[in-house]
Amino acid sequence: MNPIKVGLLGVGTVGGGTFAVLKRNQAEIARRAGRDIVVSMIADRDLDKAHSLADSNIQVTDDAFAVVTNPDIDIVVELIGGVTIAKDLILKAIENNKHVVTANKALLALHGTEIFAAAREKGVIVAFEAAVAGGIPIIKALREGLTANRIEWIAGIINGTANFILSEMREKGQSFETVLEQAKLLGYAEADPTFDIEGIDAAHKITIMSAIAFGIPVQFDKVYVEGITQLTGDDIRYAEDLGYRIKLLGITKRTDKGIELRVHPTLIPAQRLIANVEGVMNAVVVKGDAVGATLYYGAGAGAEPTGSSVVADLVDVTRMQTADPMHRVPSLAFQPDLLSSTPVISMEEVETAYYLRLRVVDKPGVLADISRILANSDISINAMVQKEPAVDEDNVDIIMLTHLTIEKRINEAIASIEMLPVVTGHVMRIRLEELDNE
Ligand code: NDP
Ligand code: HSE
Repeated sequence: MNPIKVGLLGVGTVGGGTFAVLKRNQAEIARRAGRDIVVSMIADRDLDKAHSLADSNIQVTDDAFAVVTNPDIDIVVELIGGVTIAKDLILKAIENNKHVVTANKALLALHGTEIFAAAREKGVIVAFEAAVAGGIPIIKALREGLTANRIEWIAGIINGTANFILSEMREKGQSFETVLEQAKLLGYAEADPTFDIEGIDAAHKITIMSAIAFGIPVQFDKVYVEGITQLTGDDIRYAEDLGYRIKLLGITKRTDKGIELRVHPTLIPAQRLIANVEGVMNAVVVKGDAVGATLYYGAGAGAEPTGSSVVADLVDVTRMQTADPMHRVPSLAFQPDLLSSTPVISMEEVETAYYLRLRVVDKPGVLADISRILANSDISINAMVQKEPAVDEDNVDIIMLTHLTIEKRINEAIASIEMLPVVTGHVMRIRLEELDNE
């Protein structure tokens, strides 16, 4: 059988890793796919970089459109990134009847609906395992392995850069800025690292997983996003003293009111397996009604781990390309005409527990004032600790953990607490999730 011909767009971190994995494991991959998968064309703005990989059988160009319109190419692998040229290239590839493999979570979170519709129209596959959690086959697990289940919730550490920063800050006491620079050098961070530290990259990924888990359209505009830039070493330490770790989590949950879709720093009990996922590693917990909680762990970023997922998609597409499109696994797991209109609820409606850090003047009656405000908002305190004087002898940090409440109530209570003359500065509020198997 003739080899499947791949056109590779972008040979940066992931493109380079994909090329290396495909080349090194070529024989085994062919045995699995049933035919050879060969890169026959590479496009990159940096021709020297492309030439350094390519042998004489591979055509090299700096014009990515020459690849997506080339009739000899069967599968286009988009590893350029961004949501402008990448979108044009993918739509052009689809228009030219090519299957597409991409790691571009930003593009799918924002324009997935349009891209999947175009692919359906043409009967081609758009595969995107590498777009979520790098090397972890979480898309495959959600879409196929857990297909018997009604998914209840997903919670994931899905940004390696943010997890690396939080881990290094906790373990080594290093500053946020120092660790971010390391993450950039190691190739973990996005071209724009604000995507990593402000939670946007995690939001792209949880948006995609939410769509697959609940059979809803991809709705990036509905996700609540809060990053890690406001976290302090004090909060990381105080949380640890109380038996919790702080992780940037992407969470999506089915509730009676609708779907929760959110990214924010979260306290989780230190004994949970996911709380012990450190460095650039990612982990996703999926709770299904039949299977219970399942955990998926692995490298969430980097050249070869992400390349591993890209190559897995290449093998899948190679196996499935001759199948009737009706008999392929749908892009979002559910049949496209059977997607649900269940709404994504606003953050104000979300119910969770909270960690509050208040800096207060150390004098009688302060706790009574704060407790009264919380009680008036029907918020119940679960635990409370007063720390040693933080800044000077007159000011102390008080840490409170609340029971479950509605975000709207905690926001109102915080606004009232901040107006007390004895409270100095803003109240730090971090959400807390038990992530138990209930
Ligand atoms: P890189 O920046 O390392 O690589 C992108 C490559 O594409 C660069 O070589 C770049 O050249 C080239 N390029 C950019 N624009 C064009 C163009 N118009 N025509 C031809 N070549 C172009 O990015 P990554 O490999 O890190 O990321 C690629 C994709 O994978 C992104 O969507 C990212 O979100 C995703 N991803 C990345 C992961 C990671 O660990 N890095 C993990 C999972 C997903 P130049 O350098 O000259 O700009
Ligand atoms: N910048 C991303 C991360 C790459 O740090 O997780 C993987 O998507």
